[in-house]
Amino acid sequence: MNGTAVNKKDVLIVLMGPPGAGKGSQARMLSEAYDIPQLATGDMLREECQKQTEIGITVSETIKQGQLVADEIVIDLISVRLDQSQNGAILDGFPRTVEQAEALKNMLSAKDRAITAVISLHVSDDVVIERNSGRRTCMTCSKSYHMKFCPPQKADICDDDHGELIQREDDIESKIRQRLDVYVNSTKAVMEHYHNEGLAWDVTGDQDILEVNRDIRNIIGSILNPTN
Ligand code: AP5
Ligand code: MG
Repeated sequence: MNGTAVNKKDVLIVLMGPPGAGKGSQARMLSEAYDIPQLATGDMLREECQKQTEIGITVSETIKQGQLVADEIVIDLISVRLDQSQNGAILDGFPRTVEQAEALKNMLSAKDRAITAVISLHVSDDVVIERNSGRRTCMTCSKSYHMKFCPPQKADICDDDHGELIQREDDIESKIRQRLDVYVNSTKAVMEHYHNEGLAWDVTGDQDILEVNRDIRNIIGSILNPTN
């Protein structure tokens, strides 16, 4: 911990990790458990693409190629959503560059807010490939499934809202490897930055999904209710 007073009414969790580490799956579970929104930049950008907005048209090829979208676009998207989430949020996939981390720090401190914890999910490259290749994503609510590890009750249909399950365009092996390279080259530095600030907590992402969730919730619990 960095000594910042913990605000139990504004729990801000940052989930980090390579593609397929389980950020989205865990963010969704934490969002339900703590009743605070999941702010996933990947989901926001894919929604812009689906709606063919100006942003969507600008970023669709970048996403398809597994590259990072320009900092200013994601910073603008997250800034609006953070302002709407005054009672806490789970940040899923943001920040991913040092510039984004700086922008987040500035937007939070301007509102007298602070990150509660950064959770770093660790999984091996082989797990990343297996998880992303077998993933299916709901077209309407973005929930992730896996053909082998978390199959839907009915093939190709979301359990929650009956939306169609599709394979993301960046979930083919060459693009997954590209996203892994981007993670190593751009996002790992952000992790180190948070470790240096004393905000980051390491979690083994390569365990059962419920065990990962238990570990994360234990960490959050220890921060919110420290035993003296
Ligand atoms: P984004 O959508 O964030 O993709 P990502 O970071 O590559 O991460 P994923 O969504 O692939 O994986 P995840 O960690 O959420 O895993 P999940 O829970 O789904 O970003 C996509 C693109 O948008 C980027 O490449 C970039 O272009 C752009 N972008 C987004 N944010 C940006 C930013 N801040 N700056 C610039 N550009 C940005 O799980 C994966 C699979 O594994 C699922 O099938 C799931 O069911 C399964 N699974 C999960 N946990 C477990 C478990 N414990 N055991 C077994 N299976 C599991
Ligand atoms: Mg995700």
